[in-house]
Amino acid sequence: MKILSVFLLAVVAVEGHYTFPRLVVNGKTVEDRDWLFTRQTKNAQSKSGIENPTSGDIRCYSSTTAPQIATVPAGASVNYISTQQINHPGPTQYYLARVPAGSSAKTWDGSGSVWWKFASTMPYYDANKQLVWPAQNTYATHPAAIPANTPSGEYLLRVEQIALHMASQANKAQFYISCSQINITNGGNGTPGPTVSLPGAYRSNDPGIQVNIYNLQPDAYRAPGPAPWQG
Ligand SMILES: *[C@@H]1O[C@H](CO)[C@@H](O)[C@H](O)[C@H]1NC(C)=O
Repeated sequence: MKILSVFLLAVVAVEGHYTFPRLVVNGKTVEDRDWLFTRQTKNAQSKSGIENPTSGDIRCYSSTTAPQIATVPAGASVNYISTQQINHPGPTQYYLARVPAGSSAKTWDGSGSVWWKFASTMPYYDANKQLVWPAQNTYATHPAAIPANTPSGEYLLRVEQIALHMASQANKAQFYISCSQINITNGGNGTPGPTVSLPGAYRSNDPGIQVNIYNLQPDAYRAPGPAPWQG
């Protein structure tokens, strides 16, 4: 009985928390093990989210790099397998940052005003008139297409899902993040932007970060960060 309750406690401790250790490209999981192209996050064990959106962890939540670089064709859809059900309401956003000439996606840290957003999900009402977001309560983040006009080359791809269930209090939104090392092929000649730095782009009291989602019309939600680049 004692062993059972310890086990149950351990299960309860990670309930509602998650990591995104595997990249999916065009519906296919391209990482046959966790953290191959995706940089292992600091919460790989605890699964807990980041609560301070100005912390250095908001960039990739990682203190390490990944061993390999994934090939991703421009125009492909990308998303991530989640270790637990994504049961907290909130948007999923995707960002890219181009690796500077002379650097490698295997080592570059993503510093500077180099990140642009290319996708962000909006909420809708469920049958009980509660705000829900696409892919909520599933085991994978909502997919987004990398704009076909994105130039070929090496990038860091960043996903974030922002859990807003307690976000009416300051610094109580939870950010779940992963960054993958990718090589975009068959790209175009677009000029992505606007670019922001991470940390830097978010403040604790941004209307999409400190927000009461239990008293909000779906189209009134404003996700944090710049407008998505459409390609
Ligand atoms: C990226 O893809 C291009 C085109 O296939 C290839 O020439 C290049 O070597 C690749 N770079 C890496 C780091 O995989």
